[in-house]
Amino acid sequence: MAQLKTIILAAGKGTRFKSDTPKVLHLLAGKPVLNYVLDVAENLSSLKTYVVVGHQAERVAQLVGARAVIVEQKEQLGTAHAVQMCMRHLKGFRGDVLVMCGDTPLLDKGLLRQLLTRHARTKSVGTVLTANIQDPSGYGRIMRDAKGAFIAIREEKDASADEKKIHEINTGVYCFKADALLKFITRVRRNENKKEFYLTDTIELFLANGLKVETLVTNDWTVNLGLNTRADLALAEAILREKILKRLMADGVTITDPATTYVENGVTIGQDTVIYPCTYIHHGVRIGKNCSVGPFARLRPGTVLGNGVAVGNFAEISRSQLADGVTMKHFSFLGDARVGAEANIGCGTVTANYDGKNKNVTKIGKGAFIGCDTILVAPVEVGDGAMAGAGSVVARGRNIPAGMLAVGMPARVIKKVNK
Ligand code: UD1
Ligand code: MG
Repeated sequence: MAQLKTIILAAGKGTRFKSDTPKVLHLLAGKPVLNYVLDVAENLSSLKTYVVVGHQAERVAQLVGARAVIVEQKEQLGTAHAVQMCMRHLKGFRGDVLVMCGDTPLLDKGLLRQLLTRHARTKSVGTVLTANIQDPSGYGRIMRDAKGAFIAIREEKDASADEKKIHEINTGVYCFKADALLKFITRVRRNENKKEFYLTDTIELFLANGLKVETLVTNDWTVNLGLNTRADLALAEAILREKILKRLMADGVTITDPATTYVENGVTIGQDTVIYPCTYIHHGVRIGKNCSVGPFARLRPGTVLGNGVAVGNFAEISRSQLADGVTMKHFSFLGDARVGAEANIGCGTVTANYDGKNKNVTKIGKGAFIGCDTILVAPVEVGDGAMAGAGSVVARGRNIPAGMLAVGMPARVIKKVNK
C-alpha cells in the first residue's frame, strides 16, 4: 500500500460544547478525546500526522506534544481551508493522505484499514467513509446517480427537502491521493450559504476532471459519532465503557454488574479477578490476578495491585502499590503508599499523605498489620511484620520498626499552624 500521512482537523471552536476547554481536550473514559484519534493514526503507521489547530491553539498543541506536527489555521474558514494549511508539508509527497476530525474518538482502526485498502484497490483519488444512519440530520448527505455511483456530498444547509431524506452520510473521514488533493484543494470555491470552503467539494472537482472517487459504507452508526455536545460526550462514554467491560470479561475478569461498573481506558486486570458493583477504576490502573475489588471501591490513577489483593467497600486508593495478598477490606484511604505482601489494612485506615504542600509517601512492610482506624501521617514507615493498634495515630517520621507494636493517640495541641 502507498505511504500514508494523516491530517486531523481540530481548529473548530466546538461552540455547542459551551466550554472554556477545547472540546478535543475533554476526557473520555479518562483520556483526552484527541488522543483517541492520534492513537488511530499511529496504529495505521502514518508516516507523519498533522493536527490543524486554531481555537485555543496552544492548549491543543501542548496535548499533542511530539506526537504530531502542529499546523495553525488562524481563521476557521472551513474544512477545505483547514486542509489547505497542511499543503506545504505535502509538496512532492506521492502517497495517500487520510483526513479525519479530532472530535470522532470512536473511529475504529480496522474500519480505517478497510478504507485504505479500498482506496488502493480501486485506484481512486478520493475515497470517503460513509455511514447509513437512522437520523442523518446535520450531516453531509451522500449523493448517488441512478446507478448508485457516488457523485457528490451535499451539506445539510445546501440540501433540498428530497436530499435531506438521504440516510447515507459523510462521516468526515477521507483518503486522498496527495498529488490530486494538492492540485484541486485550491480550486474549491467558497460556499455562499455557509461562507466556508468545503473539503467535500473536492469530490465534485475530481469527478468533473474525470478522476475516480469511491466510498466505503458502514452501518455502524457509532464510528462517526462526532462529539458536538455534552450529550454526545456522555453517549460516547457509554459506548466505550461497554466495549472496555466486554474486553475485560473476554479476558477472564468477572464483572458482576457491568451496568454499575466504570473502568476507564488503559486499565489492565488479571484473570479471575472479580469486580463487584458500583466500582470506579481510573485510567491506567493495573490489577493482578485473583483479586477482588468492591463493591463501592475507587481506584485512582497510579494504583497497582499485585495478585490476590482484596479491596473492599468504600476503599479509595491513589498512586499506591499494594503487593500480592494485601487485604484492605473496608472504609480506607491509601494515597502514595507502598504496601508489602500480605499486609492487612484494617477498617478505617487513612494515610494522611498531603501536608498542604506536598504529597508524602507511606511505606508499610510485608505482613504488617494496621489496626482499625489508624492514621498514618506521611512520610512514615511501618516495618515488616509490625503492628499498629486500633485507633493509633502514627505521626510523621515516627516509624514503627519491623516486628514492633505501636499504640496510642498522641493528639495534643503543640504549636501554631505553619502556613
Ligand atoms: C463536516 C462535513 C460533513 C460531514 C461532517 C461529519 C464539510 C463541509 N462537511 O461537517 O459533510 O457529514 O463533517 O462530522 O466538511 N474544522 C477546522 N477548521 C475549519 C472548520 C472545521 O479545523 O475551518 C474542523 C473542526 O474542528 C471539526 C472538523 O473540522 O473537527 C469538521 O468541522 P465541522 O464544522 O464540525 O463540520 P460539519 O459541519 O460537522
Ligand atoms: Mg461537526
